[in-house]
Amino acid sequence: MSSSVERFDEKARREVGRHGRTVIHRGELLRHPVYTRLLHWSVAISFILSLLSGFAIYSPWLYRWLTPLFGGGPMTRFLHPWFGLFFDLFFLFQFLNWFAPMSWTKADNRWLRRIKEYTTNKEKLEPEDVGFFNAGQKLYFWAIVVSGVLFLITGLLLWFDDTVPRWLVAVSYVVHDIAALIMLAGFIIHIYEGTAAQPGTFRSMIDGTVTRAWAWTHHPAWYKEVTGRDPREDYERALSGQKERADAIEAWEREQEGRERSMSTAGPEELPER
Ligand code: HEM
Repeated sequence: MSSSVERFDEKARREVGRHGRTVIHRGELLRHPVYTRLLHWSVAISFILSLLSGFAIYSPWLYRWLTPLFGGGPMTRFLHPWFGLFFDLFFLFQFLNWFAPMSWTKADNRWLRRIKEYTTNKEKLEPEDVGFFNAGQKLYFWAIVVSGVLFLITGLLLWFDDTVPRWLVAVSYVVHDIAALIMLAGFIIHIYEGTAAQPGTFRSMIDGTVTRAWAWTHHPAWYKEVTGRDPREDYERALSGQKERADAIEAWEREQEGRERSMSTAGPEELPER
C-alpha cells in the first residue's frame, strides 16, 4: 500500500491511542490497540443497524416488528442507506488498518487444506506458520471488502432508482440481497468463532489483550514474532508445569489423608501434645 496511506493510518492510530488506554498485565500480549477496537465496534454497530433496518424493508412480516425501533416505516427507509454508508466508511478505515496482516500468504493455502482438522479441533495447537490472522479470518475480511463494494454500488443505484434504468434497479436488488446473505452467514460464523468456539478471543476486542497461552495456541507465528520465543516449547513447559503442580497437590492431599487416618485410629492418650 502507498506510504501516504500508511502514514495516515499510523497517525490515526497514534491520535486515537492517546485518548484511550490498554492495560497489559503480566502474561498478556497486546492484540488490538484502541484504534482497532473503536473501528471494529463502529463497523459492528453500523452493520447491525443496516441489517435490522434492511430486514424490516425486505420482509413485510418483520416490517411490523422492526420498524418501531427506527421510528416507523418511512424513517426506517430514510435511515437504512445512511447506516449502510457509515458501515462502508468505518470499514474503509478498518481496511486500511488491517490491509497488511490480512494479505494472503502460502501459509493460508496450507491452512485451508487442513480446515477439517481446524473445525473438528483435532490438534491442540494451530500449525506453527499461522500468523496474526488465520486464513478463515482473512476470508471473512475479504468477503466483507467485496460485499462492502457491492453494497455501495447497488445501494446508491437503489437510493436514486428514479435516475437509472429499471433493469439495473432489478439487478441491484438481487446483488444487494445476495451480498447481505453472504455477510449474514459470515457474521454468524464470526460471532461463534470470536466467542464460544475460542474462549479468550472476545476480550481482545474489549480490553485489547490476550493471554500468552491463547496466542501460542491460536496464532503461534504471531506469538513467536512478538515474544521471540518458541510457541511449542512454551506450551510444553506450561503443560509440564501444570502436571508438576497437579502431582504436588495430589501428594499433599495423600499425605493429609494419611495423617488424618493415623490420628483417627490413635487413642486420645496417644495424641501428641500441642
Ligand atoms: C457483534 C458481534 C461481534 C463480535 C462478538 C465480534 C468479535 C470479534 C473478535 C473477538 C475479534 C478479534 C479476533 C482475533 O483477534 O483473532 C473480531 C475481529 C474481526 N471482526 Fe468482529 N465481532 C462482531 C461483529 C463484527 C461485525 C458486524 C463485523 C463486520 C461486518 C466484524 C468484522 C470483524 C473482522 C473483519 C475481524 C478480523 C478477522 C476475524 O477475526 O475474523 N465483526 N471480532
